[in-house]
Amino acid sequence: MQLLCYTVCMAFFTDNKNDKNIFSVRDGVLYIEGVSALSLAEEYGTPLYVYSKRSIKDRCREIKEDFLDRYPGTEASYAAKAFLTPAIAELIDGEGLMLDVVSGGELFVALAGGFPASKIKFHGNNKTREELEYALRSGVGRIVIDALDEIDLLEEAAKRLGKVQKVLFRITPEVKAGAHDHITTGQRNSKFGIPMDGHIIFPLIEKSLKSENIILSGLHFHLGSQLFEDAPFLEALGKALDLVLAVRDRYGYTMPELNVGGGYGVHYVDGEERKPYSYFVDPIMKKVDEYCASNDMAAPVVGIEPGRSVVGEAGVTLYRIGSVKKIPEGKTFVSVDGGISDNIRHALYDAEYEAVIANKAGDLPSVRAVVCGKLCEEGDRIISDALIAEPERADVLCVFTTGAYCYSMASNYNKMTKPAVVLVDGEASEVLVKRQEYKDYLSTER
Ligand SMILES: Cc1ncc(COP(=O)(O)O)c(C=O)c1O
Repeated sequence: MQLLCYTVCMAFFTDNKNDKNIFSVRDGVLYIEGVSALSLAEEYGTPLYVYSKRSIKDRCREIKEDFLDRYPGTEASYAAKAFLTPAIAELIDGEGLMLDVVSGGELFVALAGGFPASKIKFHGNNKTREELEYALRSGVGRIVIDALDEIDLLEEAAKRLGKVQKVLFRITPEVKAGAHDHITTGQRNSKFGIPMDGHIIFPLIEKSLKSENIILSGLHFHLGSQLFEDAPFLEALGKALDLVLAVRDRYGYTMPELNVGGGYGVHYVDGEERKPYSYFVDPIMKKVDEYCASNDMAAPVVGIEPGRSVVGEAGVTLYRIGSVKKIPEGKTFVSVDGGISDNIRHALYDAEYEAVIANKAGDLPSVRAVVCGKLCEEGDRIISDALIAEPERADVLCVFTTGAYCYSMASNYNKMTKPAVVLVDGEASEVLVKRQEYKDYLSTER
């Protein structure tokens, strides 16, 4: 068993289909691209988020090859909520992707990174008046309507500002996908999306068609996150296409866009293997083509919105191990110098991770342990059952696949300072986000 797990661990570094050469073990030490995890921990301190630039670029290029180039006229937007800094916005723009933001703050950071507003989509189930105005004034490409009265708010603001805004309607296709309720968003009882009941959706569509300040571009759905099967996408797509057709038949208007959201799963633990984008998009494009041909309907521009799959596997978190507590006839608790303040995903939706002690990366994993943080919550855990080498105080623990929704969800609970974020590129590394300091609290707290 131990040997099997060791093999799995090593395979993570060397065999992961698209991430080969990102992680390696040299003289028993973990390397991220060409940089030792130990030297990163030493230079920048811990906890530390580390990203591989090559991994992010590889994912963007796969999207380009499997989707954008293979199906001309399609669009791919990176979901900024997964991980966004100005430098990441610049990197994503350079790779030819568009961007999906979900708040005024995300829009601000994207624009600060020089991201062209026209390539940004603004999401959110409860956008404020101020956010709608900010989006309009910035000139975002699309606003995705997700509240029943949003069309009125938007129309009023657009009129006042003298703008004409393209919109998508986010619909709820009533398709259940995903393992955990907190990351499942396509079911009927979701806070996201507009129910597809005719008496709700048609009046909104009609209103947008009559408006002088709004251009109806199309529909959008997003089913959930960490998905590995294409069936839910195809089911939802069928319902969305039926609505596009119904709108054409009712109003004589064929909506030119259809966005099928993101949610493509990544490798966290054994048994979860990231599938190529082609696995999802090929059947989606086939279905769109067939449906439109058989209904004599112009095919819409199809868009996707991957977040986690672009940055998830590119990121790791380095921690310094402190207390190691072996409970007689019980568990071993390995405490690290971070916790739910830098990674709340285990507490939020039972997420699991693989980890390795970076300075013992060549050692046989022999200890099963709970990896927990230093915060004042019993639920402050990062991994419930890690298999690692013998842990000792001052070892550096590397937790894999923390690139998505970890820095984004970081908090200052217990007045923990948010870790620095470093981007590794070959043998070089640069700081994308400076580590917070205690004194930063005093810039906002009185
Ligand atoms: C509207 C929308 N699009 C895209 C995404 C990205 O999902 P993922 O990171 O799983 O690809 C999300 C995630 O919550 C979302 O809400």
